[in-house]
Amino acid sequence: MKKNILYAQSGGVTPVINATACGVIQTAAKYPDRIGKVYAGKDGIIGVLREELIDTSKESKSGIAALRHTPGGALGLEESRAQYERLIEVFRAHDIGYFFYNGGGDSSDTAHKVSQIGRKLGFPVQCIGVPKTIDNDLPVTDNCPGFGSVAKYVAVSIMEASLDVESMASSSTKVFVLEVMGRHAGWIAAAAGLAARAEGDPPHVILFPELPFKQREFLAKVKHAVETYGYCSIVVSEGVRDAEGRFLADAGTRDAFGHAQLGGVAPVVANIVKEKLGYKYHWAVSDYLQRSARHIASRTDVEQAYAVGEAAVELALEGKSGVMPVIKRVSNNPYRWKIAETQLSRVANREKKMPRNYIAADGFGITPAARRYLAPLIEGEDYPPYDREGLPKYVRMKKVLAPRKLPPFEV
Ligand code: F6P
Repeated sequence: MKKNILYAQSGGVTPVINATACGVIQTAAKYPDRIGKVYAGKDGIIGVLREELIDTSKESKSGIAALRHTPGGALGLEESRAQYERLIEVFRAHDIGYFFYNGGGDSSDTAHKVSQIGRKLGFPVQCIGVPKTIDNDLPVTDNCPGFGSVAKYVAVSIMEASLDVESMASSSTKVFVLEVMGRHAGWIAAAAGLAARAEGDPPHVILFPELPFKQREFLAKVKHAVETYGYCSIVVSEGVRDAEGRFLADAGTRDAFGHAQLGGVAPVVANIVKEKLGYKYHWAVSDYLQRSARHIASRTDVEQAYAVGEAAVELALEGKSGVMPVIKRVSNNPYRWKIAETQLSRVANREKKMPRNYIAADGFGITPAARRYLAPLIEGEDYPPYDREGLPKYVRMKKVLAPRKLPPFEV
């Protein structure tokens, strides 16, 4: 019996989340006898609640293919709490047999609950969580689609900015601070460490959210770098906290899940350096630039993002529900991986932080073990096509909505 797929994106974007959408839509098209339409929630779960379902069959084939190299959330994604009964009502109205929720830990929890509630309400829908998050903090999976590209962006950026600082350090800026994302886990900050391949290479200091900020030791490290190498490059995670557990930079706002909005720790750290050591500084906040930087995506990451979308369709057709396709590392050198699966309950609401043995003994760098884990994830390039004006050819979806069948619903 033919059923429709409902695919929704959730949480923050990644440079490759649309590659997963592309994987879902193109793979579903291979099974015309078993899968009807692929609908996408306009703006994510909010669109599903409002019964705003994008009919992806109304997009051109080339538009769908271009999703593979287009950043942002091409179908829209807003954060909202799920209202389960309404979701099931929409599923029933549109003959949805498969629900794919593409997100992080919170979304895995939602997908897990939808599968349980659907059964309870007599409309069992097969729910598949599809992993993504630049923070790389989902358990079970070797890594999260989205992370490898952000990792590559920050490693390349700190490498390049440090060459700038180094060239004028004796008369000008001596300290450069780059702030990166990663709410509670320091994977992105750690990835910047990939740029430092020999003694003295930048970044000289990495500040991880896993360890409390120790000002005295930090300043000593900065001073040592400036005195030894002429300058100091610092990477700081937005989630760094003081000894009392308070974020050094909490913007004071909260998202739909109650998470603190972070950002702005780079100037805080730079000012500490200026005040205590007197060095001239520059700082930068990678912010959304890092998670939309599709131009410098990791090919490995793009391939994995597509593969989890493809696997979601295959798992659904095998009759699975309450599961997530995950990446399993088969070998490091050469790097090999395959797709495996796990129960959503093992992923929901759990955060995987950097293990202590990935952080250098002094707390300010990464270890060889971390490097072995991280290095393959940024391997390879997958440049988007560029137009004659020198800009990448990114696609916008037409977002044609399926006709409504239900009365309006207030979200
Ligand atoms: O969880 C992914 C993430 O990119 C975090 O690294 C960051 O703190 C957060 O999202 C930012 O979210 P928002 O765009 O909702 O402020």
